[in-house]
Amino acid sequence: MTPLRSAEWFDRDDELGLQNRAVLRVVGWDPGLARGKPIIGIANSWSELNNCNLGLRAIADAVKRGVIAAGGVPLEFNTISLGEELMKPSAMLYRNLMAMELEETLRAYPIDGVVLLCGCDKTTPAQLMGAASANLPAIQLNAGPKATGRWRGQEVGSGTSLWKYWDEYRAGKISDEDWHALEAAYAGGAGTCNTMGTASTMAAMSEALGMMLPGASSIEAHNPRRIAVAEATGRQIVELVRRDLRPRQIMTRAAFENALRVHAAIGGSTNAVIHLIAIAGRLRVPLTLDDFDVISRTTPTLLNLQPNGDRLMADFDAAGGVPALIRELSDLLHLDALTVTGATLGENIAGAVNRDASVIRPCGAPLQVDGALAVLRGNLAPRGAILRTTTASPQLQRHRGPALVFEDYADMLSRIDSPDLPVTPETVLVLRNAGAVGVPGLPEWGSIPIPKKLLAHGVRDVVRISDSRMSGTSYGTVVLHVAPESAIGGPLALVRDGDLIALDVPARSLDLLVDDDELARRRAAWQPPQSPHRRGYPRLYQEHVLQPDEGCDFDFLRPQSDEDLAFVLPVVGRS
Ligand code: FES
Repeated sequence: MTPLRSAEWFDRDDELGLQNRAVLRVVGWDPGLARGKPIIGIANSWSELNNCNLGLRAIADAVKRGVIAAGGVPLEFNTISLGEELMKPSAMLYRNLMAMELEETLRAYPIDGVVLLCGCDKTTPAQLMGAASANLPAIQLNAGPKATGRWRGQEVGSGTSLWKYWDEYRAGKISDEDWHALEAAYAGGAGTCNTMGTASTMAAMSEALGMMLPGASSIEAHNPRRIAVAEATGRQIVELVRRDLRPRQIMTRAAFENALRVHAAIGGSTNAVIHLIAIAGRLRVPLTLDDFDVISRTTPTLLNLQPNGDRLMADFDAAGGVPALIRELSDLLHLDALTVTGATLGENIAGAVNRDASVIRPCGAPLQVDGALAVLRGNLAPRGAILRTTTASPQLQRHRGPALVFEDYADMLSRIDSPDLPVTPETVLVLRNAGAVGVPGLPEWGSIPIPKKLLAHGVRDVVRISDSRMSGTSYGTVVLHVAPESAIGGPLALVRDGDLIALDVPARSLDLLVDDDELARRRAAWQPPQSPHRRGYPRLYQEHVLQPDEGCDFDFLRPQSDEDLAFVLPVVGRS
């Protein structure tokens, strides 16, 4: 075993050694018992502000049992928790902060390896970003999807059902009484969204990247198998420290290609595009929007799960979860990629079985012959935009229509249900100033509600375009992450009501049909919006956040050279 990093704190004869060992005693460990054992940090994003991660306390206890059984010393610490539902304007604003907090905690404390306890959407990529930069042995484990509620005899899918029933309620098709009854059915209990939203997607990505134990991601939050996998995770992190197996050896280009294949096959959240690029950026693994498009074109969508299909995470788990899906896809994957089990991806899934072909479709009978994601480019999105094809209306994927522009989110909310809104089913709704710099934090505002005026006529989808994101649980013909964003002068800032916009998903194009001279005139007259943020984290964010095609990480957190990859350790002396 390589020398333990923590030994520098605890195995020394000076006054600091005494002081540090005294700390160990206070937190419950006799230094004699702990001597020579790896210190395993358990990064817990549990919080009462975050219902999705509420089960992580019990998970942490189980991880500790595993660590101790394997001969390690577990020390749990809390991190900021990013709860998608209550945190405003968006948990995305704080993803980079959480990644920084984790990286700096790992740097500053005597930790030899870490278990990353995640759950709600942004907690998973934030931990992987921080762990990638720290490059200490690490395994991730998620909180698991919440239980499925039932309403009016139907299973309630997190997000997906809510957005659908909200439109029906606004159209007058659901009573007030039923609407309020939905609330209790929607709660479900602790755990993450039970659809293929961003939390489920990113947990599957962690597994596909090799950073989570096989089969762990889909186990429901309340299922005792989750406790067992937590204990196994605790045992395995000690083994990883002994073998000195680190994230940089696991999250290679091959691992990311595997993750992109799995992402396409599960019809994963559009948010994962930003997150995977950000994680890869921390490791200097080249990964671009075009990689997503190329892989999506050559990977079938296999998973029948809301919002792409009609099933929920419990069904996916019963069908065999990510290992069974990987088994179906295995001809397209790098099966020799190394994982946190110490074995390869191929070895991990050797015994996996697809137990329900109506949930995990075989490659010969996919949900869709290609993957769920399309990357669009054109004069409206020179640095790209994306759209989830599996949830977009087929008839709108080739569409030309007049723009109706909302200057910002407040403008959209104030007018969207106005009876005077000049909107038809052909209209292209445009929302700007909703990007990473503009808000800041690019909230999930991109799935603009269908105007009441159209709902009343039975219209349930129109083309919508923004520099924002949308929930992974959402659906519709929604073009997202238009880059560069409008707040920094991207072409979206130049669109005017009535301009024709052409969307052609098969051709992967998105164009504003206005001639170049007119666009140049508009550009010359354009003024950037003034930010109200004069200080603090929002200002730091606005000054340093990158665009979605670069993962919306901070410019100073992405290494520019191999030398920048070095995780500079602290001087262990008097504080
Ligand atoms: Fe937390 Fe969906 S809101 S996982």
